[in-house]
Amino acid sequence: MKAVENMYRFTDFYHNEVTLSFDDHPFSRDPKHVWVICRYQNKWLLTKHKERGLEFPGGKVERNETAKEAGVREVMEETGGTVESIRYVAQYSVAGKGGTIIKNVYFAEIDKLTAQETYYETEGPIQLARLPVNVKRNMKYSFIMKDDVLEHCMKFIGKE
Ligand code: GTP
Repeated sequence: MKAVENMYRFTDFYHNEVTLSFDDHPFSRDPKHVWVICRYQNKWLLTKHKERGLEFPGGKVERNETAKEAGVREVMEETGGTVESIRYVAQYSVAGKGGTIIKNVYFAEIDKLTAQETYYETEGPIQLARLPVNVKRNMKYSFIMKDDVLEHCMKFIGKE
């Protein structure tokens, strides 16, 4: 991994090229994917994706919403969490075999968890006091937690 100005480049779990930046929307004003690092009652709030495993909630931006609105919706759908505050952290692009995706990372404070009838493609909320140090080698965790995006974003959030 090397830092080029405000950019970080590395490969993901599947060896796709990832470019991460903490600048304001460096790759697209209108990204189609979002990921939300959530904090609830002094713990991290994740979801358990049925196939991928444990991850922070997120997903695709729908046609009638902004990326931030998609973040708020995905947190509710996948964890039952009500977002009290949400702010932009970073943006990254992943160049995969099927094309390039661009994703906004947000940090959200959650003030209420409400049990949902469905958590869509997930099994719902998971609260953790700490993320394990070895996420990258932990089978319970999703591949989206297994590249350097997580580490850089957690450092950035911790510094503020
Ligand atoms: P649907 O089945 O339509 O939900 O989409 P998909 O499974 O094809 O995935 P999506 O369009 O969300 O992403 C396309 C590809 O981009 C995935 O297969 C991943 O390889 C990659 N990708 C998506 N999100 C992330 C991410 O947060 N991190 C990394 N490293 N890769 C991602």
